[in-house]
Amino acid sequence: MARKKILVTGGAGFIGGNFVQYMVNKYPAYDVYNLDVLTYAGDLTKHRNIENKDNYFFVKADIVDRGTIISLFEKEQFDYVVHLAAESHVDRSITDPGVFVRTNVLGTQVLLDASKHINVTKFVHVSTDEVYGELDFDPTTFFTEDTPLQPNSPYSASKASSDLLVRAYYETYGLPMNITRCSNNYGPYHFPEKLIPLTISRLLNDEKVPIYGDGKNIRDWLHVWDHCKAVDLVMHEGREGEIYNVGGHNERTNLEVVKTIMTILSKSEDLIEFVPDRLGHDKRYAIDPTKLENLGWKPTYTFENGIGQTILWYLDNKQWWENILSGEYQDYFINQYTIKNAKNC
Ligand code: NAD
Ligand code: DAU
Repeated sequence: MARKKILVTGGAGFIGGNFVQYMVNKYPAYDVYNLDVLTYAGDLTKHRNIENKDNYFFVKADIVDRGTIISLFEKEQFDYVVHLAAESHVDRSITDPGVFVRTNVLGTQVLLDASKHINVTKFVHVSTDEVYGELDFDPTTFFTEDTPLQPNSPYSASKASSDLLVRAYYETYGLPMNITRCSNNYGPYHFPEKLIPLTISRLLNDEKVPIYGDGKNIRDWLHVWDHCKAVDLVMHEGREGEIYNVGGHNERTNLEVVKTIMTILSKSEDLIEFVPDRLGHDKRYAIDPTKLENLGWKPTYTFENGIGQTILWYLDNKQWWENILSGEYQDYFINQYTIKNAKNC
C-alpha cells in the first residue's frame, strides 16, 4: 500500500508542533511534511528528536507564496492537508491587523487552490471557537456548530473569513474538507505571550503577572494533546463537509487560572497586576463538544492534571522559553504592556 503524505502547515508553532510530533510517532507509515515560514512564533528546536526520522520532512515556505505552494503540491501530491499556520495572537491583531488578513485569509485561499488543483483526499482546517464571538456568563450556554459567526477581534474575523472560504470551496468545487473549532489550548511549547505560559514564565522569574480588566473573563481550557487527538480523529473519520467543535468543559476565569498556577508554584498573589482591559475583550468562551464526542473523541486531561503537567514541563524546559524571552519578544512585551500603562510588569 502506498504511503500516505500528510502536509501540516504551521508545524513549527505550538499546536502544529505538538501535532507533527504526535503524527510522526503514531503513524510510521505516513510521511509527515511540516511546512512553516518560521515567524517569531515558529521554532524548529522542538523537533530535534524527530528531525532524522525517515517519515519527517521540513519545508520552509510562506503559505501566501502561491508559486512555491502550487509547485510543492504538484511535486509531492499530498493526500491530506492539516492547516494550522496562522497569526494566532489576539493582542497582536489589535495592533497590526494587516498581517492577520494576509496569512489567515490569503494564505488559506492559496492552500485551498493548491489542494483543489491536486485533488487532495481531505483538507482539515484548524479553526477556533473565537469565530463565534462571545457568550455571556450564563453557565448553561455553549457554542455549538450551529452558533452564528460573530467574530469580535481582527484575529477572529480573519479566522472566520478563512472558515468561510473553506466552506465555499466545499460547496462550490466539492473540495473534501472538515473544519475544527477548538477552545483555548495549553501545554508544552506554548509561546509565552499567551496567558498560561506568560504566567508560568513570569512567576518563575518572580515577575508580576498582568491581568486584563477585572480578570473575570472565562476561557475553556483544553490540553494540546487532547486537541491533537481530536484533529487526528476528524482527519480520519470526520464526515466530509462537517464542522466539529473541540473542547473539554474546563471553564475558568483568568483570575482562577493565574491563582491556580500561583498556588502550585507557591507564589504570592501580590504578583498579580491588574492592567487596562484588552480592546473588545470577549467575556466568555465555552464549547459544546457533543458532536465530536459522538464521533468517538474524549479528552484525557482534566484542567488540574493538565496544568500540573504543563508547569512541570516549563520547569524542565527553561532553556526553551528563556531563549524566546531574550530575543525580539522583549520589545513586544515592553510595547504591549507599556501601552497599557503597566510599567511595573
Ligand atoms: P502559533 O502562533 O504558535 O503557531 C503558528 C505557526 O504558523 C508558527 O510556526 C508560524 O511560523 C507559522 N506561520 C505563520 N504565518 C505563516 C505563513 N505565512 N506561512 C507559513 N507558516 C506560517 O499558533 P498556535 O497557537 O499553534 O495555533 C495554531 C492554529 O490553531 C491556528 O490556526 C490558530 O488559529 C488555531 N487555534 C489555536 C488555539 C490556541 O489556543 N492556541 C485554539 C484554537 C485554534
Ligand atoms: O479560544 C481559542 C483562542 O485562544 C485561539 O484561537 C487563539 O489563537 C489563542 O491565542 C487563544 O486566544 P485568547 O485571547 O483567549 O488567549 P490569550 O492567552 O491571549 O488570553 C487568554 C485570556 O487571558 C483572555 O481573556 C485575555 C487574558 N489575558 C491575556 C494576556 C496575554 C490577560 O488577562 N493578560 C495577559 O497578559
